[in-house]
Order: sequence, then structure tokens, then C-alpha cells
Amino acid sequence: PVKIVTIGGGSSYTPELMEGFIKRYQDLPIREIWLVDIEDGKEKLEIVGALAQRMWDASPYDVKVHLTLDRREALKDADFVTTQFRVGLLDARIKDERIPLLHGMLGQETNGAGGIFKAFRTIPVIGQIIEDMKELCPNAWLINFTNPSGMVTEAAIKHFGWERCIGLCNVPTISMMAEPRLLGKDLSELTYRFAGLNHFHWHKVYDRDGKDLTPELIDHINEAGGGTPVNIYQAPFPLELLHSMNLLPCGYHRYYYQKQAMLDHALEEFRQGGTRAEQVKQTEKELFELYKNPQLHEKPVQLSKRGGAYYSDAACECIRAIYSNSRTHMVVSTRNNGAISCLDDDSIVEVSSLISATGAQPLAWGPMPSAEKGWLQMMKAMEECTIQAALTGDYGLALEAFVLNPLVENNAETQRVLDELLVAHEKYLPQF
Ligand code: NAD
Ligand code: G6P
Ligand code: MN
Repeated sequence: PVKIVTIGGGSSYTPELMEGFIKRYQDLPIREIWLVDIEDGKEKLEIVGALAQRMWDASPYDVKVHLTLDRREALKDADFVTTQFRVGLLDARIKDERIPLLHGMLGQETNGAGGIFKAFRTIPVIGQIIEDMKELCPNAWLINFTNPSGMVTEAAIKHFGWERCIGLCNVPTISMMAEPRLLGKDLSELTYRFAGLNHFHWHKVYDRDGKDLTPELIDHINEAGGGTPVNIYQAPFPLELLHSMNLLPCGYHRYYYQKQAMLDHALEEFRQGGTRAEQVKQTEKELFELYKNPQLHEKPVQLSKRGGAYYSDAACECIRAIYSNSRTHMVVSTRNNGAISCLDDDSIVEVSSLISATGAQPLAWGPMPSAEKGWLQMMKAMEECTIQAALTGDYGLALEAFVLNPLVENNAETQRVLDELLVAHEKYLPQF
């Protein structure tokens, strides 16, 4: 029987996770689930934790959900540790999104200056979690969902030395749900190949005869239901660009390929209803009101308003595939090991992989066309710089990460944005 520990258990996504485990119980016999949070998240933990227990009680399975603020108590002898925490909660994300916008730059949870600061706050904490895991559950798998998922996973594996770590995102899952519908086919009839970085990958799709369906899907990409998560504004992609590449970009590529349209839209929202983080705070409040209802014992449909919907299809499926050694195709953040030839072997990349008891085995993509090679090398350099700054608290490296980031404008405001964010987040940045 399996022991699961979820750090950041007070997240509104926890019912997703429970649903995913209940669905897979026959293949993944769980004995106990420990939801870990901190003092600031205690109330959320108690509300969503009670719903989690009700979900299991309404299922045919006998699983106990433990709630604790003591991470070490929970980690003891864990088999799988999943992470879904947010250092500083949504108030910190509001600052990440508002401050750059006030200076005319895109503020976004995982991209631009906001994403860099989320990494600065999160990487030291993942380091502390791994310190505890080395002592208390040295054989456990760490399934990281905490954003920026690619950089946090790279820090966990490369810098804190936790090899048994896989990083996840729901974006590839959503594509693989939406696109078969657009094609009028079943997922099992298609072959998918993804490669790139988290929130910066491309993919291709083939049918059973090996015919490339990428051009057909490009023609559908600007339609509703095209596979973009709900948190991203769907500025239309220029189809000529995509057809020349003959690659399907991920939803987050809009911030790079359609930078001005995305900035204009973010400013518009900022003036009207507030940034995405402020909207999400309202959604979260509504969700927790629903969760309090003792009659509720399933995941409410309103959770689909969050961009991370279908998260459990990635997280629970990955754990199931490791546990049952099933060699299932999944798109995960893992060590490159040559899969993308223009990036270092030890870089963490988000690629099609086979998931088994030994973890993720990335499938070779091979060389990238020169445009994508250029993007990837720059974005990886920016990520490495961000991670080094997060580890050392070096101001110059933080500034270099800013200068390298295509969504941080390099002008008289650049350093002001950096300084304002450093002050705003001081409480969560002891290393600076
Ligand atoms: P949230 O604001 O609800 O935070 C989740 C919980 O983490 C909170 O209850 C909070 O108290 C707790 N927490 C904060 N610091 C902690 C610490 N040091 N130890 C333990 N718990 C701590 O966040 P959310 O909106 O549910 O998102 C959770 C995380 O998952 C975020 O990092 C978010 O970016 C990420 N996410 C990732 C994806 C993906 O595709 N990888 C999708 C959605 C969300
Ligand atoms: C997306 C992503 C996540 C992101 C989230 C935001 O789909 O894959 O990495 O953090 O959803 O959703 P939210 O509802 O919080 O804006
Ligand atoms: Mn994601």
C-alpha cells in the first residue's frame, strides 16, 4: 500500500487530485494521504481536507486523509511526494502580476518578471523539502507541480540532487484532450511528440499511418476548444508563422509570438477587473464556500474555471505509471539526456517520455530548426540565470535574468521593476 504526501495540501486543486486517485485506485492502492500546509494556509487545509476525506468516504475505498502543518511528520516513509504549494499565496502572485504591468511590462504567473520572482521565492523552499526527504523518505518520488514547474524541477534535480523527481504541467494534457476532438479521432489513434521547456514547448501529431496532422491542427488553433488553458487570453496566432514552422506551439507561446496583443489585453483587464491573480482570488473564495458544504463529496464543476484543471490527469497518471511500471507516454519535465540535441544533457526539458518504475525516459526529438534552437537556448540561459540568482541571492544575476527574459523590457524601468519586486517580496526572499 502506498503513502502519498502532498505539500500545499490546502490548494483548491486538492479535490482534482483525490478524484484522480479514486479513479486509479485499482492500479494504485493507496493506504494514506497526508496533506501538508503552513499556518497561513491552515483554514484552507481544514476545509479542503474535510472535502477530500468525504470524497474517499463516498468511494468504495478505505483511505485516510491526514491533515498536518508538520511536514516532517508527514514525510516519514512516504512513497510519493507531490508539491502544489505557493509561497506567499495569491497575494504574492498579485504583486508579480501588477508591478511589472505598472511599468508597461507583462506581468504573468510563470512568465516574464513575475515568473522569475515566483522562482526566487519557491526554489529555497523546494531545497528545504528535499533536505527533509533525504532524511525521512530517501526512496520517494517527488512529483513537482509547483510553478515555475520547469525551473523548480531543474533546481530539485540538478542543484539539490533529487534524481527521483518529475515535473508536471497540465498544458500537454489539455492539448491531448482537445486536439483529438478537433480531428474527430480518438487519442489512441494518434502519435504525439512534444519537445521544449515548460510553458515553452512545441509538438507534432501523426495518425496511424504516420501522416503528419500538424498542418490540419494549425488551421484549428485559433478556435475555441483548441487546447489553450483558460487562464491564457487567446490572441490569435499568425497562421503563416505556424505553417512555416510546421509545429504546434503551446498556449504560452502567445506571450512571445503576440507580445503586444497580450500586453494590451493584460493592461485592459488590469484597468477593468484586475489581473488574473485578482480574478483567481475571487474564484478561490467561491470554491472554498462550496467546499464547506458537508453534502458535497465530489469535485465541483466550478474548478474548471482554474487554468490548472485536469491537473490530476497528469499527476495521478504519472504516479500510477511509475508504480505499475507501465511505460506510458507522458509529457514531463525531466533530464534532457540528449533528447533535444541543442541543449545540455543535464538540462531539464519538457518532452515526450515513457514513464516506468525507473522514472521518465525522454524520447529523442533530435535537432531543432534554427529559430526554435535560438529560442530554446536563450530561454534555458534565462532559466539557469534565474535559478543561480535564486540560490545565491546575487543581485547582478537577478538583473541578468531580467535582461535575458524577452518579456522584461530592457529600458530605464528595468531595474526599477527588479527593485520594487525585491522590496515587495522581501519577506519571502531571505537569500537576497
Ligand atoms: P495556493 O495559493 O492555493 O497555494 C497552495 C497552498 O500552498 C496554500 O494552501 C498555501 O498555504 C500553501 N503553502 C504556501 N507555502 C507553503 C510551504 N512552504 N509549505 C507548504 N505549503 C505551503 O495555490 P494554487 O493556486 O492552488 O496553486 C498551487 C501551486 O500549483 C502553485 O505553485 C501554482 O503555480 C501551481 N500550479 C501548477 C500548474 C502546472 O501546470 N504545473 C497548474 C496550476 C497550478
Ligand atoms: C495553467 C498552467 C499552470 C498555471 C495555471 C494558472 O494552465 O499550466 O502552470 O499556473 O494554469 O491558472 P490560474 O487559474 O491560477 O490562473
Ligand atoms: Mn503549467
